[in-house]
Amino acid sequence: MFVSFFNNQFQNNSKLSFQGKDGSVKYLENSVVKSFHPEREQEFKTERDFLTLLTNAKFPNSPKFIKAEGNSITMEKIFGQNLLDFLPAATKEQILWVKEQILKTANNLAKLGVFHNDLNRANIIVVNDTKNAPCKVVFLDFADARKVKSIDTAQLADDMMYKKHLTPILDCFLSKAK
Ligand SMILES: Nc1ncnc2c1ncn2[C@@H]1O[C@H](COP(=O)(O)OP(=O)(O)O)[C@@H](O)[C@H]1O
Ligand SMILES: [Mg+2]
Repeated sequence: MFVSFFNNQFQNNSKLSFQGKDGSVKYLENSVVKSFHPEREQEFKTERDFLTLLTNAKFPNSPKFIKAEGNSITMEKIFGQNLLDFLPAATKEQILWVKEQILKTANNLAKLGVFHNDLNRANIIVVNDTKNAPCKVVFLDFADARKVKSIDTAQLADDMMYKKHLTPILDCFLSKAK
């Protein structure tokens, strides 16, 4: 257990890093460097291209693309709490708000022709404003994203929610929240 903990999270030149089976994420001061294993070249290109597209479109709910080098992408660091951490302590009002924001964000992505395809709790960050109140959600991890043409955006957003059981999970937290 300790071995796996230290394999997964370690202090490296005072920069916290995350090492997963598919690559690693290194946290710098205001950016993160996401590196892909060589056999995930397709995923690297997919994420690089979608982050570039969304950054050029000034999409506010994805990390800004900074640069790509070798098999690594440097992007804006998002400060906030992912849904795994956010949901257990959230109020009903906050969960309803998050649900609405996710749907809105998925719809806005679809309008740009983008389907995230891997919306799970670790890939959605809730960002707070200066008063520490939730102000927006950011989607991470566009490695499995897909281009979509003319689609029914509401239907698409719904499909995305159900694929990773996100809607039922949110509803379960909602029913237990204060
Ligand atoms: N731009 C970012 N800002 C803050 N944290 C990030 C960022 N990108 C990734 N992370 C963190 O690293 C984790 C893994 O990154 P992710 O892109 O989801 O890769 P994968 O799930 O393919 O390993 C995320 O769940 C998140 O905690
Ligand atoms: Mg992920």
